Amino acid sequence: MALLHTRWLLTAPRLAAAARASSWWSHVEMGPPDPILGVTEAFKRDTNSKKMNLGVGAYRDDNGKPFVLNCVRKYVTVQGISGTGSLRIGANFLQRFFKSSRDVYLPKPSWGNHTPIFRDAGLQLQAYRYYDPKTCSLDFSGAMDDISKIPEKSIILLHACAHNPTGVDPRQEQWKELAAMVKKRNLLVYFDMAYQGFASGDINRDAWAVRYFIEQGINVVLSQSYAKNMGLYGERAGAFTVICSDAEEAKRVESQLKILIRPMYSNPPLNGARIASIILNTPDLRKEWLVEVKGMADRIISMRNQLVSNLKKEGSSHNWQHITDQIGMFCFTGLKPEQVERLIKEFSIYMTKDGRISVAGVTSGNVGYLAHAIHQVTK
Ligand SMILES: Cc1ncc(COP(=O)(O)O)c(C=O)c1O
Repeated sequence: MALLHTRWLLTAPRLAAAARASSWWSHVEMGPPDPILGVTEAFKRDTNSKKMNLGVGAYRDDNGKPFVLNCVRKYVTVQGISGTGSLRIGANFLQRFFKSSRDVYLPKPSWGNHTPIFRDAGLQLQAYRYYDPKTCSLDFSGAMDDISKIPEKSIILLHACAHNPTGVDPRQEQWKELAAMVKKRNLLVYFDMAYQGFASGDINRDAWAVRYFIEQGINVVLSQSYAKNMGLYGERAGAFTVICSDAEEAKRVESQLKILIRPMYSNPPLNGARIASIILNTPDLRKEWLVEVKGMADRIISMRNQLVSNLKKEGSSHNWQHITDQIGMFCFTGLKPEQVERLIKEFSIYMTKDGRISVAGVTSGNVGYLAHAIHQVTK
C-alpha cells in the first residue's frame, strides 16, 4: 500500500503548492522504470483485449487469475514496514536528494529509534531543546531559541502529535510560532505521525499541525503508522509522503521512491494495507473506527485522571498535574532511575529507566496498585 498510498497523498495537497516559495525537488530527475515492474506498468496501460503479462514471475491459474494455495489460506501472513520503515524510506530519500544539509535536528528527548534510523541512512543527528524535566512540560522558549539557530535548509523532525516519550505537545498557538520560526529558517520539516488519534481522540485534530504547516507553504515530508490507531501492530502498515509543488514533480519523486524501495523490500505487504484501506474507504467502518479511536484515547485520559486521584488518596503531596496535562499513550512521570528500580524490584512494575510509562497498560483493575507503589517510592 505504501506506494499506492503515497501516490494519493503526493498529489492531494495541491492547495499548498502555490504558497510554497520555491521547489526543493526540482533537481530530482525522472527515474527509469524498473526492468521487471515496469513491464507490469506498461501491461496495465495497454488497452489491447488480448494482452498478456509474461514479465512477472507470479503464478496465475488457468483463467489467468492470481492463485491462492489452499494451505496458504490457513495462514495469516504478516510482514511489513509501518512507521519505522516509512521513516527509513524518508531518511534514505533525504540522504539521496536533500543536498543542502546532512543534519537532522531531533527534539530532546525523542523516540529512541530515530537516531539509528537517520544515522544508518547516512545523516547526522543534532538536537533541539524540547522537554523541561523541572516542570515535566514543554520547554517552549528553549525549543524556539534552539530552532532559531538551526542553519538554514536543515532538516527538523517534529512529532506531529502525542510526542513519544514525553507525552508533551505544543498547543496550537505554540505550533503557529514554531511554524513561523521554521519558515524563517527555511527548514525542511520531517513530521513523524505514529499516534494520530491518540492525543485527542480525534484524527483531524491530531493532524492539525501537519495541515497547518503545509498550508503555510512549509516544505514537509511525513511518515505515518497505522500500527497504533488501527491496532495493526503486526501488519506493519505505514506511509511516507513528500509534499510536492505539482503533479509532475510528484511523479518524479515517486519514481525515485520506487527506485529506493525496490532493493530494500521490493513491494510493500498487502494484507495490513488492505485492511487500512477498507476501513478508511468504507463509510460505516470508518465511522466505527473513529469511535473506537476515541474510545482508546478516552480510556487513556481516564487512566491518567484515576492515577492522579489515587495518588492523592494514597496521601502523596507531590504535584502530579503533568500526568493529566500530558497526552497520548505515554507519560513521562518524572520518576528517578532509582525510583524506577524500586518499582521493578519491590512491586514488579516495569517501565523504562527514564520513568516513561505506557498509560495504555494501566487499567481500572491495577491503577490503585500503581498509585500505591509510586507513592511508596516517592514519599
Ligand atoms: C514516535 C514514533 N515514531 C515511529 C514509531 C514506529 O512505529 P511502528 O511500530 O509503526 O514502526 C513509533 C513506535 O513506537 C514511535 O513512537
